[in-house]
Amino acid sequence: MTRPLRVAVVGLGWAGSVHTRVLRSLEGVTLVAVADIDPARRAAFDGVPAVSSLEELLELELDYCVVATPTAEHEPMGLALAEAGVPALIEKPLGASLPAAMRLVKAFEDAGLIAAVGHTERRNPAVRELGLRLRAGEFGAVYQVVTRRHSPFPGRVRDVGVVTDIAIHDVDLTMWLTGSQITSVAGNVRCLEGRAHEDLAIAAMRLSGGEIANLQVSRISPYKERMVAVHTAQGWVTADALTRTLTHYAHGEPTVSAPGKVTSYEVPGAEPYQSQHEAFRDALLGLPNDIVTLREGAAAVAATEAILSAAHTGACVTPTDHLLTRR
Ligand SMILES: NC(=O)c1ccc[n+]([C@@H]2O[C@H](COP(=O)([O-])OP(=O)(O)OC[C@H]3O[C@@H](n4cnc5c(N)ncnc54)[C@H](O)[C@@H]3O)[C@@H](O)[C@H]2O)c1
Repeated sequence: MTRPLRVAVVGLGWAGSVHTRVLRSLEGVTLVAVADIDPARRAAFDGVPAVSSLEELLELELDYCVVATPTAEHEPMGLALAEAGVPALIEKPLGASLPAAMRLVKAFEDAGLIAAVGHTERRNPAVRELGLRLRAGEFGAVYQVVTRRHSPFPGRVRDVGVVTDIAIHDVDLTMWLTGSQITSVAGNVRCLEGRAHEDLAIAAMRLSGGEIANLQVSRISPYKERMVAVHTAQGWVTADALTRTLTHYAHGEPTVSAPGKVTSYEVPGAEPYQSQHEAFRDALLGLPNDIVTLREGAAAVAATEAILSAAHTGACVTPTDHLLTRR
């Protein structure tokens, strides 16, 4: 029998706490240690050794490491892991900028190491079912993707705006659901008075397969919304990530715009972080898996940078296209 994989987590904030909770009971994996620079965070953690730096974790012969530090720290942490030969699951956004994200892509590709980005919204059971059914061609051609993601202010995220922190989920979902790349972006953002970063954003996008897409995000909303809607040749299909419900509004007969049958069901499934770690474990074991690659993570960073650039210049922006080429 294969021995359990030795994993550690660096960063014990909101995301790190979810990773550690899942890893403590994940089959085939042993959580060997955690790290955080904040002594209070370490003190609040029990069950496995808690150290203060990634360097200390690197002495523990890890099979992989989770990076759940603030975004600016992803690059130095990831580069250190790649240099030490340790596969990594890095939280989204992959990097604080596209060059930072691409340096991580290069470091892990050059080292021949498995690495992934924590785009957990793909793993919501309803969204995942939508993606799998779309990609199997069940609904025919995809015409349009519409996403809405609204939340109350999360207090803890102050270093980046809502585009970098939240809309990155939607650009990743849009590319994953369509299997296409974002080729053109127009956008607008709005900042509440006194805030350093944007709190609301909208974007309209075109994709390489001819699909069109738009997103709306805000982090100052009194209610939560997580909606993905896809207009296809077979009608609209929506995934509500909060209720985990998939709904298909089929076209009626004889005209395509007449309302047809509506089918709706709740999708059961593992919690997103668990499913993410199962996929990463399977990747390390050489089993079939659907981890989110660093190149996909970098493409999402490129798209969010394009939204911000479009919003600030008023121009239509093309996210850099060197990401389309795999080595
Ligand atoms: N996938 C998701 O849906 C999702 C959800 C929330 C957060 N995130 C991502 O996870 C990351 C962390 O977000 P968070 O909300 O948990 O942040 P947080 O501020 O709550 O936690 C970050 C932790 O990292 C620690 N830290 C900072 N620098 C460090 C260093 N050099 N060495 C060791 N520890 C260090 C901090 O002390 C803190 O405990 C961000 O990139 C965020 O975008 C992803």
